[in-house]
Amino acid sequence: HALPPLDRLKRPLHDLRISVTDRCNFRCSYCMPKEVFTKDYPYLPHGDLLTFEEIARLARAFVSLGVRKIRLTGGEPLLRKNIEALIEQLADIRTPQGQPLELTLTTNGTLLARKAASLKAAGLRRATISLDALDDTIFRQMNDMDYPVAGVLEGIAAARAAGLGPLKINMVVKRGVNDHEIVPMARHFQREGLTLRFIEYMDVGATNGWRMDEVLPSAAVLERLQHAAAQGMLPALAPLERAAPGETAERWGYADGSAEVGFISSVTHAFCGDCNRARLSTEGQLYLCLFAHQGHDLRGLLRAGASDEDIAAAISGVWQERTDRYSELRASLPPESLGAMRPRIEMSYIGG
Ligand code: GTP
Ligand code: 5AD
Ligand code: SF4
Ligand code: SF4
Repeated sequence: HALPPLDRLKRPLHDLRISVTDRCNFRCSYCMPKEVFTKDYPYLPHGDLLTFEEIARLARAFVSLGVRKIRLTGGEPLLRKNIEALIEQLADIRTPQGQPLELTLTTNGTLLARKAASLKAAGLRRATISLDALDDTIFRQMNDMDYPVAGVLEGIAAARAAGLGPLKINMVVKRGVNDHEIVPMARHFQREGLTLRFIEYMDVGATNGWRMDEVLPSAAVLERLQHAAAQGMLPALAPLERAAPGETAERWGYADGSAEVGFISSVTHAFCGDCNRARLSTEGQLYLCLFAHQGHDLRGLLRAGASDEDIAAAISGVWQERTDRYSELRASLPPESLGAMRPRIEMSYIGG
């Protein structure tokens, strides 16, 4: 067997993020703003989507090249019809050493109350749930579909009851929109013993009208948590080691061991240096970076009758040419030169 490929910056392939639909039942302004994602928006037609068999076949090729973790994303992955059948197929895959994969998904939680048990039964290991506020008014505004926070909290409880833990909660922080929810969110999830991760609002896609002044740097989020701790509202926090190379989050733990928090700081502290993530779009394009302009067509290969070996060789060849490190460049280049580098690909398409 050939060794797993490294890219040009010597980074191995480890995570595969698979987008299973470009649709969502939310309209978060930082991802699928309502003005753009109207009912006439040209979502992918059904025949363009990879079938579950095609996804599983590509997943096996990626695993032969080093992938050990698969995350399903979207859009909202639980909107894909019968997603449990895909999870069953992915749960059957074994690494060359005979181990199952770390199989997880990122969801807005709205369908979890209904689906957590069937997802677990299908073989899903873990889940990460996006939640930007506990305050119902703010949450309804941020999802822009007037969806109540109670529905997501029910989903979180169902996921926990089904054994989809350890659960992680993702909060995208926008200055002036939900930053006053930082401490209430931290207190709630510390008491629940779940990991809350604060995500810096990113300049992904071409439609969210990103501005640097709406980013609240992770350092400022940490400061607010430490201030709350000094007032006795939270236990004290101390930094933890990264759990795995290439991880997105910097981890901190509460001194009493009750829970941890994470900071995903793509804007102020880029983590491209050991980025080991590949992304597969809903229609089977391989993207080497969240901020890539262009994908590499794998569906065409599949549908032209390529063998498993051909497919693995094609993926390996593309990965070995990879030089992507957008977030690091964003931090080091003058803002004028970034315009041309700004991504055209929407996050709902490529998969967060
Ligand atoms: P864990 O396995 O639980 O650590 O998940 P994860 O952090 O890999 O994935 P998740 O879907 O929870 O992503 C959290 C946030 O990090 C989202 O906003 C993602 O878009 C962002 N993110 C994930 N991977 C990357 C990446 O490679 N680059 C950048 N810039 N952001 C990323
Ligand atoms: N910046 C940061 N995070 C984002 N997400 C979606 N769009 C953005 C953005 N512009 C997050 C979602 C979800 C994760 C997969 O990506 O909230 O938690
Ligand atoms: Fe949907 Fe998630 Fe995008 Fe919000 S961030 S619109 S929940 S895909
Ligand atoms: Fe990886 Fe691109 Fe994100 Fe950097 S910006 S961590 S290279 S996906």
